[in-house]
Amino acid sequence: MTILVTSATGTVGRHVVTELLKAGQSVRALTRRPETAALPAEAEVRGGDLDQPDTLRAALAGAERLYLFPVPETAAEVVALAVESGVRRIVLLSGAGADDDAFDTGYRVVEAAVQSSGVDWTCIRPGEFAANWLDWAPAIRATRTLSRPYAQAVTQPTHERDIAAVAAAALLQDGHEGRTHTFAGPEALTVAAQLDTIAKALGEPIRLDELDPAAARTQWISDGYPPEVVDWLFGLWATPASLNAEWAEVVPALTGRPALTFADWANEHVAAFR
Ligand SMILES: NC(=O)c1ccc[n+]([C@@H]2O[C@H](COP(=O)([O-])OP(=O)(O)OC[C@H]3O[C@@H](n4cnc5c(N)ncnc54)[C@H](OP(=O)(O)O)[C@@H]3O)[C@@H](O)[C@H]2O)c1
Repeated sequence: MTILVTSATGTVGRHVVTELLKAGQSVRALTRRPETAALPAEAEVRGGDLDQPDTLRAALAGAERLYLFPVPETAAEVVALAVESGVRRIVLLSGAGADDDAFDTGYRVVEAAVQSSGVDWTCIRPGEFAANWLDWAPAIRATRTLSRPYAQAVTQPTHERDIAAVAAAALLQDGHEGRTHTFAGPEALTVAAQLDTIAKALGEPIRLDELDPAAARTQWISDGYPPEVVDWLFGLWATPASLNAEWAEVVPALTGRPALTFADWANEHVAAFR
């Protein structure tokens, strides 16, 4: 069985490729830049651009299953092309914010395309990626200081290998057809606690310089973040949160092993913060 993995060079996609190869599957990996993709030799690397569905024909030919990265603008066309090419199961990377009315993440339109495809589908909706912390790595490397608002905001960080394992389970196991899996990591942690975990992995202290939200909002917008995204994120961080146990149960249930902790993630990525 050939499985086409889109976003194969991405944070999650790279691990989807590895998981499927480990399971003995024939993996075709899509990237816009095959020459720099650095994917495992056992994967069949194909060029293609989800922004230009016509470029996907060769990659889709003969593929029976598809791991789909969400591109709202072309989702309907890409899904139609996949089905026409013979794809019989689609696992979509969506997000836990899909139903959030405060901000249109674009997931709903991609989910609708997949759900009306006429073939088996599963939407996987991870919560916040632990890998978002890599955005702060340059500042931590340079100054051992993190400046941000909402140090006490609680999130449930999700390891990218767990997201990939959930995707692989939905691609390979039966019983996930027509289902949406919303999930996150095993712990609810404040931003300050996550920073401490990175500092512990690093073996050095990291200073947290907590910014006033109003000043941070102005700064982020002048740095180029769209105001609606800033307001959405700040709104989430300002809302008290605790562990969503239902979300935490999904990774163990689908993979048969415990979910990875934020300390696991920090230890694996410590080089980025050095
Ligand atoms: N960050 C979060 O907390 C969070 C939470 C829930 C859901 N999500 C969703 O997860 C997704 C990000 O996943 P990720 O982190 O695994 O991806 P990523 O690391 O951002 O990588 C995306 C990959 O997709 C490929 N790509 C991008 N545009 C493409 C296009 N038009 N055609 C073909 N390939 C394209 C790129 O590969 P090439 O350059 O090699 O082509 C890139 O390596 C986003 O949709 C995001 O909304 C994120």
